[in-house]
Amino acid sequence: MAAIRDEHLTLEVTTRCNGRCRHCFVRGRGAAEMDINADLARGVAREGYREGYRHLHLTGGEPLLWPHLIPFLEEAAALGYEGFYLNTNGTLLDGETAGRLAAFGRAMAISVSLQGPRDLHERFRGAGTFDPAVAGLKCALEAGVEADIFTVASRDLPPSLPRFAEWARKEFPGLRDLTVIQLLRLKDDALPLREELLSPEDFILLVRAASLLNLAGYRVAVLENPLAPAAAAAMGMPWLPPSAMLHRKGRLTVLADGAVAVAHSSQETLGAYRPGLLGEIIASAEYGDLMEEDLETCSGCRHRGDCRAAGQLRPSEWFRRSGGDVPFCRGVMDLAGASGVSAVSP
Ligand SMILES: C[S@@+](CC[C@H](N)C(=O)[O-])C[C@H]1O[C@@H](n2cnc3c(N)ncnc32)[C@H](O)[C@@H]1O
Repeated sequence: MAAIRDEHLTLEVTTRCNGRCRHCFVRGRGAAEMDINADLARGVAREGYREGYRHLHLTGGEPLLWPHLIPFLEEAAALGYEGFYLNTNGTLLDGETAGRLAAFGRAMAISVSLQGPRDLHERFRGAGTFDPAVAGLKCALEAGVEADIFTVASRDLPPSLPRFAEWARKEFPGLRDLTVIQLLRLKDDALPLREELLSPEDFILLVRAASLLNLAGYRVAVLENPLAPAAAAAMGMPWLPPSAMLHRKGRLTVLADGAVAVAHSSQETLGAYRPGLLGEIIASAEYGDLMEEDLETCSGCRHRGDCRAAGQLRPSEWFRRSGGDVPFCRGVMDLAGASGVSAVSP
């Protein structure tokens, strides 16, 4: 199945973390501090491989705290997995750990979370967290590990994105992408984030900055959010790389407590893992419905064509906006369409 071959199967290998980010959806869902059972993780990897997955995505909590990490990766590589992507806050990445990750060669890539410039980073991740993350990312790059920066976009990011991108390019030679993630609101507003969420206006600023940075040769992507390239194209600045929907066919995550969800940030789960469940979920009507194109809200929307062209098949989820009834995507696309820039060829 092509969609699965190209997808990452996600494992949340621990909810334990040495950080206490004020925006963290893992903390926000009230997850108990625990590691995934190592046998369960191996079973999931074997079943995932049989289902057609060839790439694993490991996240947490802080995955570098999981004691089984390296043996698990070695077993998965022996099984035939071809690629691994690890999300880390970078603070535990020293030369030795970076060397172990580098031993997987081009099969290994990581993201290190930097929330933007130092003040913004520490506002979300705590005082004293910026320098260790920077040092960890440098260690990884020096060891030859492919690395991206993951930057969560709160409302203060868009104005500082160009300078942050320029700083990152100078500071981290060999860095792959600067990947921006729209800050997501949590169920029942478990953490107070509403004031920090992007408004449609902020989103437009973000898209403009990110798109122009790509034009200037920087690699800036917006993660799992095709609304961004849709808005960029509607503004006549189509330089953002394509972006897939957060909920898409083949996307599955096994959480540390064994619950299965579509994405790591999903606020609903699909059941407790047992052997055979991954295939059952993928074949189920419930899962298919989550991926379906929206035929109600979108069919009457004048932006439908622009959105579909970028792969935005459903309205933005409720957790992308701070309130109100208008879908976030419509607010963004109305602004993009009214931006006065037309997509004419020179
Ligand atoms: C959950 S963390 C786990 C890995 C590691 N501890 C780290 O800090 O990168 C993975 C990514 O999710 C992001 N994240 C956490 N909560 C978020 C939220 N509410 N909205 C958007 N991204 C979020 C983090 O900033 C981080 O880049």
